[in-house]
Amino acid sequence: AKTHNHDFVVQQTNIKRLCKTHNSITVNGQFPGPTLEVNNGDTLVIHVVNKARYNVTIHWHGVRQITTGWADGPEFITQCPIRPGGSYTYRFTISGQEGTLWWHAHSSWLRATVYGAIVIHPKLGDSYPFPKPKRDSVIALGEWWDANPIDVIREATRTGAAPNVSDAYTINGQPGDLYSCSSKDTVIVPIDSGETNLIRVINAALNQQLFFTIANHKLTVVGADASYVKPFTTSVLMLGPGQTTDVLIKADQAPGRYYIAARAYASAQGAPFDNTTTTAILEYKTATCTAAKCATSKPIMPPLPAYNDTATATAFTTSFRSPRKVMVPTEIDDSLFITAGLGINQCPPKTRARNCQGPNGTRFTASMNNVSFVLPSNFSLLQAHQQRVPGVFTTDFPAKPPVKFDYTGNVSQSLWQPSRGTKVYKLKYGARVQIVLQGTNIFTAENHPIHLHGYDFYILAEGFGNFNPKTDTAKFNLVDPPLRNTVSLPVKGWAVIRFVADNPGAWIMHCHLDVHIGWGLAMVFLVDNGIGPMQTLEKPPPDLPVC
Ligand code: C2O
Repeated sequence: AKTHNHDFVVQQTNIKRLCKTHNSITVNGQFPGPTLEVNNGDTLVIHVVNKARYNVTIHWHGVRQITTGWADGPEFITQCPIRPGGSYTYRFTISGQEGTLWWHAHSSWLRATVYGAIVIHPKLGDSYPFPKPKRDSVIALGEWWDANPIDVIREATRTGAAPNVSDAYTINGQPGDLYSCSSKDTVIVPIDSGETNLIRVINAALNQQLFFTIANHKLTVVGADASYVKPFTTSVLMLGPGQTTDVLIKADQAPGRYYIAARAYASAQGAPFDNTTTTAILEYKTATCTAAKCATSKPIMPPLPAYNDTATATAFTTSFRSPRKVMVPTEIDDSLFITAGLGINQCPPKTRARNCQGPNGTRFTASMNNVSFVLPSNFSLLQAHQQRVPGVFTTDFPAKPPVKFDYTGNVSQSLWQPSRGTKVYKLKYGARVQIVLQGTNIFTAENHPIHLHGYDFYILAEGFGNFNPKTDTAKFNLVDPPLRNTVSLPVKGWAVIRFVADNPGAWIMHCHLDVHIGWGLAMVFLVDNGIGPMQTLEKPPPDLPVC
C-alpha cells in the first residue's frame, strides 16, 4: 500500500460562469478541486492551508475513518474550523472500500465550489469484479449560483426564508452548452467505438436530487458509495446529494456525439428548484469520426424524467443489491425510530418582520425526533467529549419521537414545534444498531438524502406512508441489501438501515441538502471507545485546530 501526500490550498479564485466572473473559494485554484486517485488500502496525508477569507474544514465523504475520527472534518463535530491563515493535516487510510467517494468543504455553503472526487481502484493485485474498462471518467454534478453562495445562505439565515435556488446545474463545474457563454467549455467525455468505459457519477449539488442519463446508451450500474453492487441496467440514474454511482457504458452506437444530461428530481410539490438541464458530451473517438466531421454534428438529446417523477426515482433506488449474500446483523442491541422533516417556527410577537420571511411570517426549521440540531460554536463535540468539557452537548437525543401521530398525513402545523439543542445519542461500541428513518409532512414533505458519517449501512427496505412494524418488517432484505453511506429517504416514506457501531468517534447523521442541515435536520452519534487498544480512537493530531 502507498501513502499519497497532497497540499490543498484553500484560496480565493476568479471563476467565470454564466457570462459573469465571481471571486470564489477553490482548492489549488481548481474548480472542481483535484481528484484524489488511490488504491484500496492506501493512506492519504492531505495538508490543508487556508488562504481564503472564510473558516473551512474538509470532509472525506464516505471514507470510513476507522479509528481516525479526528480526520472526518465536519466543523464543530470532529474539529474546530481551520481559520484564515491556519492549516491542518488530515491523515487516514482507505480500508475495504473500492469505487467512488468524494471530498467537500463541511463549513457553511463552501462546498458549492470546494469539492472533488476520490477514485478508489482495487487493492494492489486485485481486479474489478467486471472486465477492466478502457477508460475511467469522473462526472461530478453540481450547482452554480450567480452570486456568492455564502451570501445566499447568510441572507436566508437572517430572513428565515428559503434560500435562492441555484442558477445552473453543472457537470464537472460546467453548466454545458444549453446555457449562454458555456458552449466552448462543455465537458467532453471520450469513448472508443466498441469499448466499455467506467463512469463515476457523483452528486455534489448542494440542495438538489438529480436524474442523470446518456442519450441512446444503457447504463450498467456496478457500484455505489464505494461498494460494488449486483450489476443492473437502466437508462436513468437518480442521485441524492452525497451519493455516488459507478456505471459501465458500452460504445455500441453509431460513432458520433451524445448528450450526457442531468436535471432535478424535486419530490416536493411546490418546492422551488432550478428546472434547467446541464449537459456534457459523450464523444466517439474513431478514425471515421474525426474532429472535423463528428465534433460539428449536433449531439443527440436524451429524454429525462419529469421533475416530479417519483415512480422512476423509486424504481431506481430500490434496484440496488449487494453482489452476494452479506452479513447483516440479525440481533439488534439498539433500535431507534428517527423522524426527519421540515417545520416552521412561529415568530414571537415583536420579532422584526424582516427576520420572519418564511411561510406566513414564520421561520423555516427542520428536525430529527423533534430536535432541531444546533452546532456547538466554542468546541467540537469530539474534543469536548475527549477532554470531558461540560456544557457543550447533552446526551438526551431521544430514541423515538416524543409524540406518535400520522407522520405523512396532513399534519397540523401546531402539532409539532421542534425544540433546539445540541443533543447526541450514545451508542455502545460494537452495538448492532437498527434505525427506522421516517419522513414527515410537518410543513411539507420531501425526499431527504440522509448521510451517516463514519459508517456504511445496509438498507433493508424502504416504502411510502408510515412505517408499520407489523407488516413492513416482512419486507426486510436480510440476504443481499446494498451497503451505502447515504439513503434517499422517500418523500412521505420510510427507510430502515442497520450497521454495527464498531468505529469510535462523534458521527453526524444529517440530510445532505445543505439548506436542511442549516435548519437543523441532523443529529450526532457518540460511539464510545475503550474496549481495547484496537478499538480505541487514536490520539488527536497535534495540529488539530482549536476554537
Ligand atoms: Cu458529504 Cu456531512 O457530508
